[in-house]
Amino acid sequence: MHGVRIVGLGAALPGTNVPGRIVTNDVLAAELLERRSVLVRDGFLVPPDLWCHLPEEQQIICRARWSQFETDNGWIMDRTGIDERRRAAPEIATSDLAIVAGRDAMATAGWTPDMVDGVFVATVTPDHPLTPPTFSLVQHGLGIPAFDVHGYPRNLGGMDGSAACSSFGHVLRTAYDWTRSVERGVRRTLVIGADEVSRWVDPNSRNLMPILADGGGALAIESTSEGEDCFFGDRSFFSGTDGSLAELIKVPVGGSRQPVGTSAHDNPFDPTTRMFMNGRAVFQQAVGILLGDKLHGTHGYIEAALAHAGFDIGQVDFLAMHQANNRITDAAEGRLKDLGFKGVIYRNIQRYANTTSAAIPLVLYDAWHDGTLKQDMLVMVAVFGGGFTVHLTFLRWTMPPSTT
Ligand code: UT7
Repeated sequence: MHGVRIVGLGAALPGTNVPGRIVTNDVLAAELLERRSVLVRDGFLVPPDLWCHLPEEQQIICRARWSQFETDNGWIMDRTGIDERRRAAPEIATSDLAIVAGRDAMATAGWTPDMVDGVFVATVTPDHPLTPPTFSLVQHGLGIPAFDVHGYPRNLGGMDGSAACSSFGHVLRTAYDWTRSVERGVRRTLVIGADEVSRWVDPNSRNLMPILADGGGALAIESTSEGEDCFFGDRSFFSGTDGSLAELIKVPVGGSRQPVGTSAHDNPFDPTTRMFMNGRAVFQQAVGILLGDKLHGTHGYIEAALAHAGFDIGQVDFLAMHQANNRITDAAEGRLKDLGFKGVIYRNIQRYANTTSAAIPLVLYDAWHDGTLKQDMLVMVAVFGGGFTVHLTFLRWTMPPSTT
């Protein structure tokens, strides 16, 4: 019993199986303009016809703020590949998404709640700061018992795991270790990625509003005999971080560095409690981190992970890559093909945008359902994000084709 296999997949998509809506690029552009009108009406934003009365430096600020609300379908499609994204309804928290995705994965696996031994939730947007952890809410929400029928405590594993957009990779590794460490019987674990990052994005910003969205995805994994293993033991996983790039994506206020309450929250142009991102720098770093950066003399994490796993890039059939921007994926694909990659790079960013911790389980979910992901394929999962953080996972897809 030292193997682990994937036996179920689930999704939580606001506007489909969770309260919420699908926001097209045109709707997003119209909503930004609507917000600008409200800020003008409430006196937070000066309209252009009044700028001439202001000193030059204030005019520059006003002009920059004014244009931050202007975007269109053409720009977003061209620069990101995103067509539409999901926004959860206001009453829906991350745990609600995680519960729906987890229940869906349990149904595919044929599990009842009492069969589940672990709930691992990858998220950067927990329901609450500090406590309660989101995985506890998910355990309760799914009806997974804390005690057995004799009132004896169940050995129930779990945690919330956060590593920016790489969270799912890191949490999958931890959940894998938990699941395979069982000595007797079968251990069954839900590995869920769920996020509502749209709530942390500056609503005045055309830079981030189009690309970050809400969603959830889940894998049901269980311990199995070695012959049926999806993974390759420790060789399956390769992770890294380099905090020297921490400033590229950051939420300045709300943690121990600067607790909530120490900035002017009533100012709609105070960006400190919202996510800041140097998009262009992240874009450039992402490709260099994955595939190497000649300028800095560094090798890529994909090369290192392949060497660690003992695979050649030509053996990889399916790449599940973090859905951050189609241009990042295109650039990576070009360089991977030069190295001999002949597999499929799956994209669903056009429908969901960047759903942070949910991106990878949603790629696997969609690709399995539409038949792109087939039995026996060698899968490489590549996630990267703020920190920076990066995580590579290799696995063999063993689930029979989807019948739904
Ligand atoms: O999950 C990991 C974290 N995130 C990522 O991996 C995202 C990585 N970065 C990106 O996806 C891209 O850098 C963005 C989509 C964020 C931006 O695309 P870009 O091609 O790098 O544009 P830019 O930031 O260099 O901006 C170019 C211009 C700027 O105007 P000026 O300064 O040249 O006048 C922006 O203000 O485009 C402007 N701009 C927009 N214009 C219309 C930025 N966003 C928009 C927009 N609509 N939505």
